[in-house]
Amino acid sequence: MENSLSTKYLGLTLKSPLIVSSSRLTSTLGQLKEAEDSGAGAVVLKSLFEEQINYYIHSVSSSSGYPEADDYLANYIQSNSVDNYLDLIRKAKGNLSIPVIPSINCFTPRGWTGFAKNIEEAGADAIEINVFFMPVDRKKSSAESEKLYFDLIESLKKSVKIPVALKIGYRFSNILFMIDQFYNRGIEGVVMFNRFYEPDVDINKMEIIPAAILSKENERRYVLRWIGMASAQDIRIDISASTGVHSGQDAIKYLLAGADTVQVCSVLYNKGIDYLKTMNQQISEWMSLKGFKGIGDFRGKLNYANYEKPGVFERTQFMKYFSSFE
Ligand SMILES: Cc1cc2nc3c(=O)[nH]c(=O)nc-3n(C[C@H](O)[C@H](O)[C@H](O)COP(=O)(O)O)c2cc1C
Repeated sequence: MENSLSTKYLGLTLKSPLIVSSSRLTSTLGQLKEAEDSGAGAVVLKSLFEEQINYYIHSVSSSSGYPEADDYLANYIQSNSVDNYLDLIRKAKGNLSIPVIPSINCFTPRGWTGFAKNIEEAGADAIEINVFFMPVDRKKSSAESEKLYFDLIESLKKSVKIPVALKIGYRFSNILFMIDQFYNRGIEGVVMFNRFYEPDVDINKMEIIPAAILSKENERRYVLRWIGMASAQDIRIDISASTGVHSGQDAIKYLLAGADTVQVCSVLYNKGIDYLKTMNQQISEWMSLKGFKGIGDFRGKLNYANYEKPGVFERTQFMKYFSSFE
């Protein structure tokens, strides 16, 4: 049976729910073309950093207080210019027919947001904002930390008309409240979730080192729950799943939980960008097996809308699970 993988995200029509997420894999025109040829529904470009934009605007880089970090930043800014980034957007738009979504990684709502207009003018279909904010000040309440997101949205929405997706982490006191607030402020989509840099320790060298950069399949667990909860709300904010998708079957799980699209990164580092073909095929075969003609036939079928009181359901599951484990 013929089926269609076509889906909508941020008001755009995608031929597949699979999106290549932001990373070095989306930093050249050749890679973006390969993603399109392999069946990607859209591409999110490697992030431009707030620091790069501020340097571009003011021609001065601010000191972080760590000479080593300042050196790294100065080198990075020199070899990754903002002009090159805008050029990549223009070239991608000229050569690809799938949506092109540039990304900005930021940690403050100040200074840089007006620059988003340049990205819009370069032809971007939408913009993804990766908020890398770490609440490390014990004197600051969670409400103060959350306000940063609202200030950011307010000033961003003044500069661009294209749809905006926020790529967020899962460590909020109340994720659903935050998503509701984003929606009320006009945000079109949320990417759930960002996978932040995490530290590990090398006990031989006695040094802090980065933990695994690429994800594992078992990291899907917390993402599934919150996508299932968020998609059961009565608001129409789009959801793009990110973290732990290593096969078409993994993507199906997120779609069943209620995601509109599914982003992939680590698996493409491991298996190559053209693995998207296999993943699309796996989704299509499963749909044929189940008799589904389109993504809309099964999207969100397993979300939490089926549970009147999701909190009670979760607690019962928890009790069942742990009391039955010998
Ligand atoms: C090497 C590498 C570079 C990344 N760079 C970015 C980036 O520039 N901006 C961003 O928003 N996410 C970045 N990410 C995060 C990915 O977009 C993605 O959200 C994360 O890897 C989880 O998805 P996965 O399990 O499919 O890898 C990067 C990930 C990796 C592995």
